[in-house]
Amino acid sequence: ATDGTISTIISSYYDDQCEFSRENLTVGHLIGKGAFGFVYQGTAKGINSKEKVTTVAIKTVRDDATPDEVENLLKELSVMKMVGKHINIISFLGCCTKGGQVMLIVEYAKYGNLRDYLRRKRPPGHVLSGLYETPSDTDNNEHQTIIHDDDYIRSLTNIDLILFCLQVASGMEYLHSKKCIHRDLAARNVLLAETRICKIADFGLARDLTQTYYYRKQTDGRVPVKWMSPEALFDRKFSKKSDVWSYSILAWEIMTYGGTPYTSVAAENMFDYLRDGNRMSQPINCPNEIFQIIESCWSFKESLRPTFTQMCDNLRHYLYGSS
Ligand code: ADE
Repeated sequence: ATDGTISTIISSYYDDQCEFSRENLTVGHLIGKGAFGFVYQGTAKGINSKEKVTTVAIKTVRDDATPDEVENLLKELSVMKMVGKHINIISFLGCCTKGGQVMLIVEYAKYGNLRDYLRRKRPPGHVLSGLYETPSDTDNNEHQTIIHDDDYIRSLTNIDLILFCLQVASGMEYLHSKKCIHRDLAARNVLLAETRICKIADFGLARDLTQTYYYRKQTDGRVPVKWMSPEALFDRKFSKKSDVWSYSILAWEIMTYGGTPYTSVAAENMFDYLRDGNRMSQPINCPNEIFQIIESCWSFKESLRPTFTQMCDNLRHYLYGSS
């Protein structure tokens, strides 16, 4: 909530250190569309000292954006700056706030979001754990360029999947160490960059914590409530522990090659469903040790859920042996 005009809001966030000159930025094609704005692929000259031209992702608001929407983008920018750099977090590269539309320049992730990637890589004949999942609810690739170049031969093994789980847990451990709570952790909000590096995205978003966002169906029928912990669902209580719960749903998505959680449960029945003790079952290919980690996040009582540090240790132990 602000009383200001867009220009006063912009000047209150202005930071000369981060301003990138518009002349050196080229905006390319649309790669994503959110509730408030657009994401484009683009190139930035000299934004990275190691190369002349860098492929970047550019976030903007719509032309007719309200002051609040502009401020949300600037808030996202300031959270990204505050959080800083980690290999498993989408990093902030710069912004253009002066002399035109506000643009946030972030690291580009070549393979797009993890959910769609996993679905494309699903082994032929893979048996889904979720019931009644129809093929038509799959990839919403309207704006995503599907990359078939250098990655199509290498299929995903269980070890690859568990490495994705570890990378996301490492990024979250870092985010929590910076006192940042994600609130919407899901495979759709993890991006995959070159050499299959997972990057957590959208952690700086100002959340619309009203019922409408969480109950709104996405175009493919998924509802964010299915990633929410009981206390987040019931009394909007978001914390590190509710991120841990969401992470376990994301780990389940990874282990099912982008499966849709609780396909047979309606969004409005989720709270009762969980309160009655129901949980998702072990994906067929998921090792017991990994499912135990996932299940440990499904405690109704927040204090019984592990931390990301503990989960990273357990995942590393599974992957690399005694640590
Ligand atoms: N879609 C949304 N943000 C993106 C990014 N940073 N890289 C690639 N695709 C994206």
